[in-house]
Amino acid sequence: MPDSALLAASESSIRLVTEIPGPRSQELIQRRTANVPRSLGMTLPIFIERAEGAMLEDVDGNVFLDFVGGIGCQNAGHRPAETVAAIKEQADHLLHSCFMVTPYEGYVEVAEWLNNNTPGNFPKKTILTNSGAEAVENAIKIARTYTRRPAIIAFEDAFHGRTQLTMTLTGKTHPYKAGFGPMAPEIYRMPYAYCYRCSYNLTHPSCKVECAERLHSMFARHIEAESVAAVIFEPVQGEGGFIAPPADWFQKIAEICRKNGTLVIADEVQTGFCRTGTTFACERFGLEPDLLITAKSIAAGLPLAAVTGRAEVMDAPLPGGLGGTYGGNPVSCAAALSVMKLVDEADLAGKAEAIGRQFEERTRNWAKRFPLIGDIRGIGAMRAIELVKNRDTKEPATDETKRILGLCHKRGLVMISAGVYGNVIRLLVPLVATPGQISEGLGILEDALESTEPLP
Ligand SMILES: Cc1ncc(COP(=O)(O)O)c(C=O)c1O
Repeated sequence: MPDSALLAASESSIRLVTEIPGPRSQELIQRRTANVPRSLGMTLPIFIERAEGAMLEDVDGNVFLDFVGGIGCQNAGHRPAETVAAIKEQADHLLHSCFMVTPYEGYVEVAEWLNNNTPGNFPKKTILTNSGAEAVENAIKIARTYTRRPAIIAFEDAFHGRTQLTMTLTGKTHPYKAGFGPMAPEIYRMPYAYCYRCSYNLTHPSCKVECAERLHSMFARHIEAESVAAVIFEPVQGEGGFIAPPADWFQKIAEICRKNGTLVIADEVQTGFCRTGTTFACERFGLEPDLLITAKSIAAGLPLAAVTGRAEVMDAPLPGGLGGTYGGNPVSCAAALSVMKLVDEADLAGKAEAIGRQFEERTRNWAKRFPLIGDIRGIGAMRAIELVKNRDTKEPATDETKRILGLCHKRGLVMISAGVYGNVIRLLVPLVATPGQISEGLGILEDALESTEPLP
């Protein structure tokens, strides 16, 4: 299919020309099933041939509206022209030399941009890695070396990756941890500021962020403060269900950490690069973390991630202690530099705010109309709807969520769930989606909500 078909479709958006999955996708699914382990999940059984902006075209010529963006990697849209050009240009010069053997400028430029643009007016340094999980691992290694302390505090419902250490940090058993033990040592966990399901049955602001205060109790009961290297959290939990704590939670956590010589690590893998309406979510909450982790939308889908932090902390590990063969690959760096330009040139943060406003307007009366809705939340373009069978008991409506997403998929809207109980519908649409595309997608979701009752 020529590019123009996808472009033409992107004006009128979704276009389904076969049953879903189409015949070619069905063939490929069989090959996938025979050759790829089942442990790799699959939201939709469609194979993608090309993508543009907020649209995906499958191998059968069906065009889908993408409200997932490769799980938050496409804030700048699928295949921005500038990024594609930068990748081609870089491929003409250098694919790989290993930055630890013979360095190249792109890596340093990406590090400079991150050092200058992440929150915190202090000298910073950056290391680049291949994946979000690898960046989280490095952040923990750095924090432990700097503080010479072993323990890390993470939160319930957190997601930090699938490697041994990051799955230990992750706060959801199935499917991320079950069967993969033993877990890494010295990880402690406490409830997050999940106001809709407050662990202490309190209400903000009268609670005075009791959940943050409980860090004191953690230090008294589970692990002494002088052994805690860092507290790690996502400023807005992603896989956990788009849970955004109130601003005073961040202040309280940061204050307690500072008093105890404990570092603050912000995992901005999903919140970064303008998703929440500012370049980094920490900015919204006035938080200056000691270490900040980025990945996903940093390079428009090419594998790249980073740890950026206080220079003296980042310099704690000895030469050779950190690194990896591919980390900060030149092509990924070229893609990242083009995205970094787009942050300003395309006003991605402004676009995220506009999407957030459109979402708020459209969903304003949904809670009244649809009894399944327990909570509508989020900031910027990081928005979600939590579904419950009963508003009093808040029993998660997991099957209903699956049904609603299935209805969306049938009509050509790609959307996924989140939350420990899989009962949260999340919006991760590329920020370049037009108001028409946002409206079309929300319309499909609205119809699906309309036609779904709580199941017995
Ligand atoms: C907040 C957060 N941290 C870490 C990760 C892990 O990133 P990766 O899948 O690139 O290893 C993810 C992935 O979804 C994430 O959302």
